[in-house]
Amino acid sequence: MLLLDSHPSGRHFLQIPGPTNVPDRVLRAIDHPTIDHRGPEFAVLTKAILAGMKKVFRTEADVVVYPSSGTGAWEAALVNTLSPGDRVLMAETGHFATQWKRIAERLGLAVEFLPGDWRHGASADQVESRLRADTAHAIKAVCIVHNETSTGVTSNIADMRAVIDRASHPALLMVDTISSLASIDYRHDEWRVDVTVAGSQKGLMLPPGLSFNAISARAINAAKTARLPRSYWDWADQLAISATGYFPYTPATNLLYGLHEALDMLLAEGLDQVFARHARLAEATRRAVRAWGLDILCANPAEYSATLTAVMMPEGHNADTLRKIVLDRFNMSLGQGLGRLSGKVFRIGHLGHFNELMLCGTLAGVEMGLELAAVPHRNGGIQAATDYLAQAVATGLARAA
Ligand SMILES: Cc1ncc(COP(=O)(O)O)c(C=O)c1O
Repeated sequence: MLLLDSHPSGRHFLQIPGPTNVPDRVLRAIDHPTIDHRGPEFAVLTKAILAGMKKVFRTEADVVVYPSSGTGAWEAALVNTLSPGDRVLMAETGHFATQWKRIAERLGLAVEFLPGDWRHGASADQVESRLRADTAHAIKAVCIVHNETSTGVTSNIADMRAVIDRASHPALLMVDTISSLASIDYRHDEWRVDVTVAGSQKGLMLPPGLSFNAISARAINAAKTARLPRSYWDWADQLAISATGYFPYTPATNLLYGLHEALDMLLAEGLDQVFARHARLAEATRRAVRAWGLDILCANPAEYSATLTAVMMPEGHNADTLRKIVLDRFNMSLGQGLGRLSGKVFRIGHLGHFNELMLCGTLAGVEMGLELAAVPHRNGGIQAATDYLAQAVATGLARAA
């Protein structure tokens, strides 16, 4: 086998905010022999997966699975519901929102991009005033990235739904949950989201390669008249045979084995516990960052991401130098700064198959890296995190007693 690991002993720490560490159970499931995707066993597998995914999206609506990265599911959301020249409202929360906008523009949509500073979530107030001004209802969709992976900032989707309702505006609500699903509380039905976009490689604890759309009845209705060209991404082909457990093309069989296993793990832990674990590990991370005397990129505590923390480098220090030292010396990958944040931040991924001691190892790697890279900081980050984690466990035990 091609040897890519230059650190022969111990485990690599994959602490980028996705792809995330894949549990051994999931890897073993993926290792099963590939079966006939038109045979009887396959239908059982698909039906179980679709039922599990509905629980994770918290929806009774249709779910479509694509053998693609998340970018495919972004495109699918747009091409199934919109027509050339349609106006869509997007919010500049960071690099990924900018990428989604680029796709929309390439598809011939007219994008209104609400400006942002990459340190705050999408502003529900801005969305509301834009929708109120749109008395002709030219805006056909509002597209929001729930958790902006480039910045570690979440946007409040319940608020987005509330302002769309208050403005009595018929625009569809589309939400990218690629780095929040199965990690941060998300409710497709309750928030009446029309299309939720998701991917396999983050909270779902799988390798990259699967993407998803959860689709409301309104979105399915919009698809009937939408005129953007679509073929591979067409929901109709998939939905026509979904109930049979088969796909209109050759699905990614072995990734689906992995998804079945990952869903078992997530649902056994319980989604609320999964969200609480992510929130706890994120808080411990932020305490470490503050103890180091470094700044968190997210400027609004109410919008802190539970899946990653973007840490700002002191002036004159490059995040990529630090990341290289941490990789070379301690076999840990940290997320790079994306787009205009290149070199200015590093991102600590704390999502997916992850626990207290994995976080301690991660923070130790960062703290040692800061020392070796001569980045001005104080020690004590790990201590601040472990103090908090021990206290959180003690509180949990007391509550359970
Ligand atoms: C929030 C968000 N949206 C979209 C994408 C694009 O997904 P992919 O790289 O799987 O195509 C990513 C990837 O990290 C992401 O984090």
